[in-house]
Amino acid sequence: MSNRILFVDDDPNFLKGIERTLRKLRTEWTYYFAHSVDAALDQIGKVAFDAIVSDVSMPEKDGFMLLSILQSTPKTKNIPVIMLTGNYEHSLKRKVLEKGATDLLNKPIIREDLFARLHSVIRLKSYQDSLKQQKELLSQKVRERTSELEESRLDIILRLSKAAEYRDTETGNHILRVGCYCRILAEEIGMTPEFTEMIFLASPLHDIGKIGIPDNILLKQGKLTTSERQIMQQHCTIGANILLQKVKTLKLKQSKHDYKTSIDQISNSNPLLRMASAIALTHHEMWDGGGYPDGLSGLDIPQAARIVALADVYDALRSARPYKEPYSHDKALAIISEQKGKHFDPVVFTAFEKQADEFSIIHEQYIDNDYGKGVGEKTNVFEEKNIIC
Ligand SMILES: [Fe+2]
Ligand SMILES: [Fe+2]
Repeated sequence: MSNRILFVDDDPNFLKGIERTLRKLRTEWTYYFAHSVDAALDQIGKVAFDAIVSDVSMPEKDGFMLLSILQSTPKTKNIPVIMLTGNYEHSLKRKVLEKGATDLLNKPIIREDLFARLHSVIRLKSYQDSLKQQKELLSQKVRERTSELEESRLDIILRLSKAAEYRDTETGNHILRVGCYCRILAEEIGMTPEFTEMIFLASPLHDIGKIGIPDNILLKQGKLTTSERQIMQQHCTIGANILLQKVKTLKLKQSKHDYKTSIDQISNSNPLLRMASAIALTHHEMWDGGGYPDGLSGLDIPQAARIVALADVYDALRSARPYKEPYSHDKALAIISEQKGKHFDPVVFTAFEKQADEFSIIHEQYIDNDYGKGVGEKTNVFEEKNIIC
């Protein structure tokens, strides 16, 4: 497409002279002419110009007015403008350049000069336009790549979580439902959108540490012994370690001093893993301090883990097990209510109460068609205080 240039001057003879010269030169440019700033603005609204040549002094609105209007919108801000004047004051050049003009030429103009300047500003603008296009293209690619990465990250998280679930009593949709419950609770409590999205992604990893529990304990039929229970409870620390594995790798490679720095860097740079690790470690802690592995209580338990604790137990109660039918929503609600301020953070419980219907909907939406393959006694938290949700 040929370059488009607009000439603005209230002197019709000047514009005619330009037109004659241009015809003689037979350039590949396309020309437009305007006798006033208003007429120029009208054309600028319709055509994307590559350069504007404008007189400074015009009746009513002058060249300065045109410059400030052009500078005021992003669409026209970068159009090169060459100003023309019959005024030889030195300060005028500085003034028009300050207002955003590209150059100032004195009248009567040497037309070769004008066209040489036009060639130069059009070339410059073409470079700028192509740079801008490349930048937009790059940004678009980065956006697409980021979205692909987000999708694969979610995919990896869900697959990783399922790897743990395969060995356990729970069935595939448990982790998905827990993520959804957590998101609802976080929203209801008033957590930020970033936290809400992060807990949706991080909560499915809460039991990833079960990968490290021996089959004879994880899949044991019947009640666990005290020592077996202690081993089972290690899934919290195993999970937290798995999620911070990168830190351990660095520990092997680097000096003690570097190791500490690396932990900080990794924790700071990957908030999702930091939250997932905290959840894995503390999702069996209880509000009243009766949980494990550290017997944390109240606000010492990370907020995300307090949310996951309730979501996980609700889902365990609603789910079928070989030793029990799934509990109804009302029964699960009643059991959880009894644990307000004991197992569960009262604030999280209140959010759950408000959103209880949504929990029921999610459970129906992602219902499991097959029963869990594990056994039951170790999942009976309120009778045995030994739940592995
Ligand atoms: Fe667990
Ligand atoms: Fe669970």
